Amino acid sequence: MADRSTSDIPPETRALAFVLPPLPYGIEDLKPILSAETLRIHHGKHHARYVETLNRLLSEQNFSVNTLEEIIRVALGSGAQGLFNNAAQAWNHSFFWESMSPKTSRPSGLLADAISSTFGSVEALGQRFIAEGTSHFGSGWVWLVARRNGLEVLSTHDAGVPNLEDGVMPLLACDVWEHAYYIDYRQDRAGWLTAWWDRLANWRFAERQYGAMLGHGEPWRYPAPESEQELLFSPGQ
Ligand code: FE2
Repeated sequence: MADRSTSDIPPETRALAFVLPPLPYGIEDLKPILSAETLRIHHGKHHARYVETLNRLLSEQNFSVNTLEEIIRVALGSGAQGLFNNAAQAWNHSFFWESMSPKTSRPSGLLADAISSTFGSVEALGQRFIAEGTSHFGSGWVWLVARRNGLEVLSTHDAGVPNLEDGVMPLLACDVWEHAYYIDYRQDRAGWLTAWWDRLANWRFAERQYGAMLGHGEPWRYPAPESEQELLFSPGQ
């Protein structure tokens, strides 16, 4: 996509900047499954860089939108690959942080019923989830999503996001980029996914997402941009 002059950008759009949401738990709270070092680098370096680059690209390009979900959709539809990659990775990582909890839990209620009817058991779903993430070639994400007709495990490549416009509600996501697990698990992606599934998966979050699909409450959204915040990069920098 050709860059446009920043003079074309409405002032209200030019001032928008997305923030890096804080982790929903302490930096030490996911030990021993994830070290503080991994969280510090993954959130404070990798995720932060996606948000910084997203803001820089938004300052250079004229996108008159104000939610990250809409930016992802527009960037994907217009072939703005760089903007899509950074917007989607900002979104995916925040969803991933929410998908984990220091308190190990089990699915309950309507979601537990849906898991039983789709996969037979939580254990069978776990095996399916771990196998999907382990066999995904290269970098990407493994997801548990809900559709109107049931649940599904899928993976997306690089910055890929489930098609939110197509009646898909993401419930949980696990990062299978090497930067997510290499410090703690080296090359053992299956070990990372197994520990994640058994100890970190946030079933209360998944249940809220599932409830939203059924019309109860709102799904998780990336925090709205803060219009008063200074952009992290000056246009054209
Ligand atoms: Fe990551």
